[in-house]
Amino acid sequence: MKHQQLLVANWKMNGSAELVDSISATLAGITFTGLDVVICPPFTLLHRFAEQRNFALGAQNVSQHSAGAYTGEISAAQLLEANATYVIIGHSERRTLNAETDELIAAKLKAATEAGLTPILCVGETLEQRQQEKTEQVIARQLDAVYASQPELLAKSVIAYEPIWAIGTGESASPEQAQAIHAFIRDHLAQLDSAVASKIKLLYGGSVNGENCSALFAQPDINGALVGGASLKAAEFAQICSSAQE
Ligand code: 13P
Repeated sequence: MKHQQLLVANWKMNGSAELVDSISATLAGITFTGLDVVICPPFTLLHRFAEQRNFALGAQNVSQHSAGAYTGEISAAQLLEANATYVIIGHSERRTLNAETDELIAAKLKAATEAGLTPILCVGETLEQRQQEKTEQVIARQLDAVYASQPELLAKSVIAYEPIWAIGTGESASPEQAQAIHAFIRDHLAQLDSAVASKIKLLYGGSVNGENCSALFAQPDINGALVGGASLKAAEFAQICSSAQE
């Protein structure tokens, strides 16, 4: 079965009103066929995007709480009100820099899905874990923390495999390396629900650019990408969108 492809731009703590305008104008000139595009800017820029556009919006984080005395946090309902329909959860930068645990990530996923957001759960290993041949073990743990106790979340999620050694380094995983882990993820999830596992979108992230994207998209278990740096350049991101439709 050919999946509808999904391309997600993670702007991280980059971008401005000017970038909102240039990306919006560039993407407006493309008709997406068999492809959904999601832009995840910093929270403050969500409202800068026009109501009418040919792509969806997402956030880069969400609170596990629904409301209350949580200074600096943003709830899933508030994100929906700001026109976001997706949210990135468990990005390695937040796992490392904000000490997010598997338990917290599971709680965020639950809060997001209950509110009606589609979570994009990020998983991936460090270089050291790969060298020690622990990649599958690490990813299984990250998946099980979310789905083993709450398998119903699986049907509502997207998963992004982002090897930490490939993020922002210019060194993407090879298409074969990425495909092998995507196949592992699908097989692992099939133990919980095989029908959902065959349908779930698995994105690859880590130094995706206009040059390497086609070979990644050609892999059978890669259904799109989570793009960082290259999503900040309108022309290159448009090129990645075109490749995802081929
Ligand atoms: P880069 O594409 O800049 O490597 O970032 C990947 C990433 O972390 C996307 O979430």
